Formats: sequence, C-alpha cells, structure tokens
Amino acid sequence: MTPSSQPSRVAVFASGNGSNLQALLDRAQREGAPYRVVRVVSDRPRCKAVERAREAGVPVFAHRVNEFPDKAQYEQAIRAVLAEDQVAWVVLAGYMRLVGPDLLAPYRGRMVNIHPSLLPAFPGKSAIADAFAAGVDVTGVTVHFVDEGLDTGPVIAQWRIPVQPGWGLEQLEAAIHRVEHRLYPAVVEHLVSEAAQQGPDNLGNGVDER
Ligand code: GRF
Repeated sequence: MTPSSQPSRVAVFASGNGSNLQALLDRAQREGAPYRVVRVVSDRPRCKAVERAREAGVPVFAHRVNEFPDKAQYEQAIRAVLAEDQVAWVVLAGYMRLVGPDLLAPYRGRMVNIHPSLLPAFPGKSAIADAFAAGVDVTGVTVHFVDEGLDTGPVIAQWRIPVQPGWGLEQLEAAIHRVEHRLYPAVVEHLVSEAAQQGPDNLGNGVDER
C-alpha cells in the first residue's frame, strides 16, 4: 500500500468453520494493512464463519441458495451487494460452491481461492484425506485465481508440506491449516498491494467484464 492509498475493499466467502476467514480478519486489523474485509458472504447462515464475521463487526450476506428461485438469482443478489459495498477483491475461504459465470465475470483476476493440496493434485472437497490416503510424501497448500472449473484456475502461490513419518490424518490436517492461516493473508496482502501499484482498484461494479 502506498502511504496515500486506501486499503483495498475485500469480500470473503465462507461456508464452514471460517478459520481462514479469521486469519484474514486478524491480518486486516494490523496497522497499515493494505486490505479491509468489508463483507462476508455465506451460503450457510448458521456456520461458524458467519459467527466470526458478526463478532468482528463485518456486514454479512448469509442466505441459502434455496431462498432464491435459482442459483443465478442468488448470485445476482450477491453481485448487487458487492457492487454496493464497492468490493474490489473476492477471497474464497472454504466456500463450498462453484461460482457461476455472472458472479465471476466482474471479478475475474480479482477472485482467489485457497485449496489444501498442491494443485493440480487432489482437487475437490476431500483433498487432505485424499492425499493422505494416497500415501504422498509431500502435499501442501495452493492459492489460485478462480475460473469456471473446480480448483482449476491459475496458481498464484504454493507451499509444500512434507508428510512426516508417523503422522495421522489429524496431524496432516493441523499442519495444512497452520500453513493456510499464514499463507493466505500474506498472499492477499501481496496481491492487493501489487494491484494498488498498477492503479486504483476497479471497484466491483460490474463494468470490468474481462
Ligand atoms: C480450508 O482447508 C481451505 O483450504 C478449503 O476449505 C477449508 C476451509 O477451512 N478450501 P476454514 O473454514 O477456513 O476453517
């Protein structure tokens, strides 16, 4: 962040525990942080992530998809909220849905996801267990741009985690989450700071249809 620039306006999407959301919120509290979490979006209104957002005083959009006629209209509603909030970056943190084309369009290149494996290995919902069951020596964490696919967008950063002899699934999960909680806020800070060097944020109002 340059001294005169404002922190970038970030929305975090989460469906579950929200430990990555918490790490992102904590980092944003630091003096001089280059981003601010201005909205949390969840498709599970009762999840822990929503609780964490409310505790942090961050406005929440928390609705089930089936409250809307279809997924497209659910995502239209989210898009309208993000435009209203002037959100420049969307950070998926355990959001358990594929983002549809109309919501992705204004944020392509400014929507990121974290995944608990070294992509392209072990995409999907049970990546840690899948890697463990496969008996890999090394797994890790990936941060990537979001595209239309499931865990397929261009990779931004990866961190390798050697699986230690004697580790069970629980130890591996703990090691992965420890890395995630440091890596994700650092990568988000880096991305928004780099982008701020390029010029003012495009504020998610749907005009940037790349
Ligand atoms: C993380 O392992 C993340 O990599 C994956 O979903 C999990 C979310 O955990 N996409 P939490 O809700 O942030 O605790």
